[in-house]
Amino acid sequence: MQYRSMTIEDYDAAIQLWQDTAGVRLRDADSKEGIARYLDRNPGLSRVAVDGGHMVGTVMAGHDGKRGYIQHLAVADDYRRRGVASRLVADCLEALRQAGIIKSHVMILRTNALGESFWNSLGWQRRSDVELFSFINGGGENV
Ligand SMILES: CC(C)(COP(=O)(O)OP(=O)(O)OC[C@H]1O[C@@H](n2cnc3c(N)ncnc32)[C@H](O)[C@@H]1OP(=O)(O)O)[C@@H](O)C(=O)NCCC(=O)NCCS
Repeated sequence: MQYRSMTIEDYDAAIQLWQDTAGVRLRDADSKEGIARYLDRNPGLSRVAVDGGHMVGTVMAGHDGKRGYIQHLAVADDYRRRGVASRLVADCLEALRQAGIIKSHVMILRTNALGESFWNSLGWQRRSDVELFSFINGGGENV
């Protein structure tokens, strides 16, 4: 298994994995242009796991100078429960730490019990003290 930084050349394989993975919600911002912009703004923070040329895991991360934000964590069905996601997240957090970011957040759908088990297992704390507010500034519905 090869673990490495994600590049825009990984886009087609990554979007296929995300489309095949329940629990990953895709938006217009996940277009190739959107992901290219994200990777440019957050160099080296997003990671992939590749086995024999086949993409089997992804995690994306960015930061705002204070906090890290993790998204699109996905591992192919056949590769689950082997520590792939744990390794991807560990590498991602180390890259964030090197960028000066020690606290990070991840948003998961309230219905994603699997995601909740995973983040709990890594010691992430579920927040009950915050609500998420979002606003679309002149865009469409699926942004
Ligand atoms: C969540 C997900 C990324 C985990 O990937 P993974 O590579 O199987 O995870 P790991 O092997 O590193 O698991 C680490 C720990 O998480 C917990 N965990 C993982 N899958 C679990 C499951 N199906 N049920 C219960 N606990 C689970 C376990 O504690 C596990 O440790 P263990 O195997 O020693 O018991 C993968 O199941 C997935 O892609 N799910 C769909 C997408 C998603 O929900 N992403 C998270 C939202 S961002």
